[in-house]
Amino acid sequence: MGAGRRGLEPALSAVFFMTTDITTQTLAQLGANTPEAVAQQFAEVRRHFDEEVARRGADPSAQTALLARWMGRKSGALTQIGDNWLKPAPQDLKPIVGQEFQKLKAHIAAVVEEKRKEGEAAAENRAAARDTFDLSLPGVQREIGTRHLIRQTFDELIGIFLSIGFRVVEGPEIETPYYNFEALNIPEHHPARDNMDTFYIAGARGERLLRTHTSPMQIRTMEKEPPPVRIVVPGKVYRRDNPDATHGYMFHQIEGLAVDRDITFCDFRGTVEYFVREFLGPKAKTRLRPSYFPFTEPSAEVDATCHVCGGTGCRVCKFSGWIELFGAGMVNPAVYGFVKYDPEKLSGFAFGMGVDRLAMMKYGLTELPVLFQNDVRFLRQFP
Ligand code: PHE
Repeated sequence: MGAGRRGLEPALSAVFFMTTDITTQTLAQLGANTPEAVAQQFAEVRRHFDEEVARRGADPSAQTALLARWMGRKSGALTQIGDNWLKPAPQDLKPIVGQEFQKLKAHIAAVVEEKRKEGEAAAENRAAARDTFDLSLPGVQREIGTRHLIRQTFDELIGIFLSIGFRVVEGPEIETPYYNFEALNIPEHHPARDNMDTFYIAGARGERLLRTHTSPMQIRTMEKEPPPVRIVVPGKVYRRDNPDATHGYMFHQIEGLAVDRDITFCDFRGTVEYFVREFLGPKAKTRLRPSYFPFTEPSAEVDATCHVCGGTGCRVCKFSGWIELFGAGMVNPAVYGFVKYDPEKLSGFAFGMGVDRLAMMKYGLTELPVLFQNDVRFLRQFP
């Protein structure tokens, strides 16, 4: 085989005898018997190497391939030259083979190192280019959201009460039965609990429930603070209702409480009328119907003239001219007993409104669920 190859034209040998081929043969097989011929073989290998470097360029995968092919420990070209050229070299040629071998190794190591540095620099440049940004480009436009209709309604309601001297307090949604019921004069087994069934939680510190109304904050506030008290309490409340077009397991309320010396039914009625006119417009009229809550006495349902027909009767008010707005009443003196307020000296009124109901009414919604589905087609209608 070796003899046959030696017979080929030199020009062709450069094409067919790739580096791997000449390095798998001994120098004797290659016919290199003089120092000059040895140097020529090394020059040939070096030429192959330089060519390959030029061909591969500087990207990292080319680097890996170059390393494996030339400096690979097992079958890299240098290892083969050591095994096939240096070790079997005759005594007289050994020094020159050793010298040429060292020169070649140094050359390859230097070039590989140079390429590694070039690759590194290129990677750094690429990273730097990624990190610079063009300040003249327009920024990413993010749409600013709007307040949810419930939030808007809360804000509107709160605004009305702030303007007449009420202040906002908030309280826990997870309550004790004491604050949700007992202290509001709703003892266990009282029928008033029937429409306030809720979700109970067994806790290490005793039974807890999801509050069924914001009224517990009446108690918590009076327990903590001496009179006078004038608060509104916005928040979420929970009941075990079957979901339908106007019910869910959660809804929103805003509670009101005013307690002071000499608060009369007239103050109550005046406040209610002021509120209704602010919320529904100056033409809205108010009426009170007798009702029942254990924590108010007397209790009332507050109705307003229908915001659609103005009181003449239409489908929305079921042709009565009136719309039911919320429950309210004068604070039952029994409640003062739970918070150590003096019922002889103090009086007050309280109210509790369903915010979702008021929003539905004011904005003409027929379905409650749309308020909680976060469908942007709905939300966008209330910017
Ligand atoms: N808490 C009552 C309810 O949720 C409403 C209410 C509040 C009634 C304050 C009177 C006074 O039904």
